[in-house]
Amino acid sequence: MAELEGLEFGKSDFVLLDEVTMEQFMENLKLRFEKGRIYTYIGEVVVSVNPYRRMEIYGKDTIDAYRGRELYENPPHLYAVSDAAYKAMKRRAKDTCIVISGESGAGKTEASKYIMQYIAAITNPSQRAEVESVKNVLLKSNCVLEAFGNAKTNRNDNSSRFGKYMDINFNFNGEPTGGHINNYLLEKSRVVQQQNGERNFHSFYQLLRGGSDELLQSLHLQNDPAAFIYTKEGAATTSNNDRASHKAVMSALEVIGFSAEEINSIYQILASILLLGNLQFESDGESVQILGLEAVGHVSELTATEADSVRKSLLFRTVATGGGEVIEKGHTEQDTCCGRDAFVKALYERLFGWIVSRINSVIEVKDYDPVLHGKNTVIGVLDIYGFEIFDNNSFEQFCINYCNEKLQQLFIELILRQEQGEYQREGITWQHIDYFNNQIIVDLVEQPHKGIISILDEACLTVGKVTDTVCLESMDTKLAQHPHYTSRKVRTDHTKVLDFKKHFRIRHYAGDVTYSVEGFLEKNKDLLFQDFKRLMYNSANPVLKEMWPDGQLSITEVTKRPLTAATLFKNSIVALVDKLGCKEPYYVRCIKPNEMKSPVLFDDARCQHQVAYLGLMENVMVRRAGFAYRQHYARVLQRYKMTCEYTWPNHLMDSDREAVEAIVTQHGFQDDVAYGLTKLFVRTPRSLFTLEQERAALIPILVLFLQKIWRGALARTRCRRMKAIYAIMSCYKRYKVKAHFWEVERRFANVRTTADYGKSVEWPTPPAALSQFHNNTVMLHRRWWARQIVKNIPPSDMLEVRAKVAALTALSGERKDWGVGRAWQWDYLADARDSPQTSSGFARVSKELRNKDDHSRVLFSGFCRKVNRFNKSTDRSLLITDKYVYKLEPKKQFKVLKRLPLDLTGLSVTDGVDQMVALHTSSQDDVLLCLQRGDLGANQDRVGELVGTLVDHFTRIRRVQLPVKVCPSALQLHMRGKPKSVTVETKPGQTSADFKKRPDGFVLLVPAN
Ligand SMILES: Nc1ncnc2c1ncn2[C@@H]1O[C@H](COP(=O)(O)OP(=O)(O)O)[C@@H](O)[C@H]1O
Ligand SMILES: [Mg+2]
Repeated sequence: MAELEGLEFGKSDFVLLDEVTMEQFMENLKLRFEKGRIYTYIGEVVVSVNPYRRMEIYGKDTIDAYRGRELYENPPHLYAVSDAAYKAMKRRAKDTCIVISGESGAGKTEASKYIMQYIAAITNPSQRAEVESVKNVLLKSNCVLEAFGNAKTNRNDNSSRFGKYMDINFNFNGEPTGGHINNYLLEKSRVVQQQNGERNFHSFYQLLRGGSDELLQSLHLQNDPAAFIYTKEGAATTSNNDRASHKAVMSALEVIGFSAEEINSIYQILASILLLGNLQFESDGESVQILGLEAVGHVSELTATEADSVRKSLLFRTVATGGGEVIEKGHTEQDTCCGRDAFVKALYERLFGWIVSRINSVIEVKDYDPVLHGKNTVIGVLDIYGFEIFDNNSFEQFCINYCNEKLQQLFIELILRQEQGEYQREGITWQHIDYFNNQIIVDLVEQPHKGIISILDEACLTVGKVTDTVCLESMDTKLAQHPHYTSRKVRTDHTKVLDFKKHFRIRHYAGDVTYSVEGFLEKNKDLLFQDFKRLMYNSANPVLKEMWPDGQLSITEVTKRPLTAATLFKNSIVALVDKLGCKEPYYVRCIKPNEMKSPVLFDDARCQHQVAYLGLMENVMVRRAGFAYRQHYARVLQRYKMTCEYTWPNHLMDSDREAVEAIVTQHGFQDDVAYGLTKLFVRTPRSLFTLEQERAALIPILVLFLQKIWRGALARTRCRRMKAIYAIMSCYKRYKVKAHFWEVERRFANVRTTADYGKSVEWPTPPAALSQFHNNTVMLHRRWWARQIVKNIPPSDMLEVRAKVAALTALSGERKDWGVGRAWQWDYLADARDSPQTSSGFARVSKELRNKDDHSRVLFSGFCRKVNRFNKSTDRSLLITDKYVYKLEPKKQFKVLKRLPLDLTGLSVTDGVDQMVALHTSSQDDVLLCLQRGDLGANQDRVGELVGTLVDHFTRIRRVQLPVKVCPSALQLHMRGKPKSVTVETKPGQTSADFKKRPDGFVLLVPAN
């Protein structure tokens, strides 16, 4: 029972219908058909509706989904039943069979093919070559059987005109080891005659349309079905791709193992049939002649017989007289035609039978030894013609419908027996249910002495003129009282549609069928003159000879009448039913939704009729009258345990059975169930439905619950992982920090004792987290280092050091030479080493000025060239104290020419080696001068010294900034408020630096070197 699909697709098992009424049944069937759900269960029976369109439900994915699953685990499907049959066979070593029934065109053959495909797909996973070849032959045999046994009819373009039962043998391992095909009642009359719009068997058209010119020529055929009487009717239809099929059949024959001679023989027989069909006879009143003996020659060539024997067999019959003498008796023209038709029918039938037996010889299980190979089990697949009701029903329909009666009987018996068997096994009391038992109809047909077949046989045996009508009379007499038999004579009241002396009617389980008795005797006798049998047996072609073993007897030896067609058929069907009866059956009931082969049309009346005669309603009722649902306790528990607090998520009871009882009691339907030994039986589907609905309602909650748990678990794992990551990261970071400290410590451990106090030690690269710290440490170290250096400088040198630091900062590396490498003397005019002639004079003046202007220190003094207010360049002396800047006249005992307060706003120098300095004043009357050097060093730079001492004084004593500008090109200043620009140029021949007037200011001309 499949519960997996939503209710919008209807109920997947008819057992679940609220009420078993035809309306509800049809409604559900129709709804499912319209929703593309072509399969529905009745318990374990699959009801299939022909979709008349390609369904995407047979692919590998689907096969995988059904493989090894239980019936109710997936939506209804052929595969589920196939798997169930296979599993039963494999697990319990049971022979099983799948019975497919339904009327022509309902999809039986397609179903049987899908079943075979499924079984082929799920077996032999290890791809053993011998198993693969068995599977291959089994699958390929379909193609051959369809070519020779199928035809286009008005109901089905590929209608099987024979019944087929195929056994597949499996070894203990569940791998196919062989098989056997039984065929039933080939519709051989089709060879000589077809209804309007129908075709002969595919094989003829395939040969005529697909055979090579060479082949056709050798067979004396032309590639035109319209040229032959037997294929003329179907010649216009080209719906089947005969040419391609011919190729496929040829290759299939080869794969199966037919030899080239055998294949050739097959086509020779087909050709003989076509040529025989075209023979025409002519009677001159006394004897019959064949028109055109050439064709007879061709037939004799194709059948490897004497041409004269062929001619004789067609025109005469050999009769044994009472005295053991043999005479030849000429046919009438009608006998000739009938004899010929009977011959070709037999030819074709035996050909078909031979092909089947040839396939069987290939696939039969060989060298099988049960002791060695373990149990050999079988799955049988029965694809047999369904019930037929035509406008004109003849002997064939009679046989076919009888066959269906037998199968229905088996179905009822097995289903009931199985059901009963199960109740017995499970120890449950079983109450009998009424169902329609069609044994009575079966008896009507097959009972010895009284049955219709007996009456027919009797009539055939009677010597003398027995007609169909006489036979009907005999039936009327013997069967008049039978409730399922009627004819015009028996009951005149409601049988107006029956023709007197022609019709009889059987009330089949599937409906009333009126048979026309005409031809019954003929077809039952199935007369074939012995001469044809002998002709064929004497063929030089071994294949033909093999097909006609009964031609071996000479005419005098033939005494016993052969069994009639009906009896032969009955025997084969009885054997079949016996065969099926000992197997565990699975059923596929096929329904044809409409006559138009339309994928959308659901013909209610037609379908209802089929549902009725297939006995599906009874099937549902039988199923429900007992217990609609039964399942192993463990499975019930698994499916419904969430609906009961004691069983969810796990029960604590002693057995699953008790747990299931708890569920049942909780839902209050203890009166609706029975407890078997291993299974729970639920009587009404409603109870099950309650469970199902509750389950369906709980599922989303459970899903959410599971999602919650799972998401939680996922999140927790992720969180743990993150934490671990962070722990590792922080340990690592700590390690990196520590490692950095250790390294710094190691490198700087001894710097106190090294000469440079660690200045040359390279700092290790710090981790990112320590970059700020690193900068600070580097700074700390520098300070400490500076402190160590500065600490050792004597106080007397401090002034110079400060001035030099000030100069360094102010010039910020932009001036090439600033005299850092020498001792700064400041007061060069007072220095006897620098100005030996004038120093004493200057010292005196300087002292006077100190007394007068009260300065505490001389910042700088020296000679210089200076531009005066008339833009003239003159020699002057410069004295800068901490209070004033003095301009002195060196030539007049350093007379003070000008005194400016030391209120400078800035200094400008060049980046070169010249000694030019501009002292900027707030009054925009700047002082431009070029320092001159004395004896201490003509090349000394004194600009750096002047800058350093002034900047140091301003920043340290006056605490104001004194900006210093280092000009790479022209130096800018103001004189008396006017902007001037001073450049430096070298001039060859210039002995000392001197200013020259320029339009925009001045140029300092310096010596070339
Ligand atoms: N399951 C199916 N899927 C698609 N088409 C189908 C299916 N079953 C039957 N048919 C169609 O119906 C036609 C008749 O089916 P077939 O099996 O030959 O009927 P039956 O053997 O019962 O006479 C097929 O040729 C095919 O076109
Ligand atoms: Mg078929």
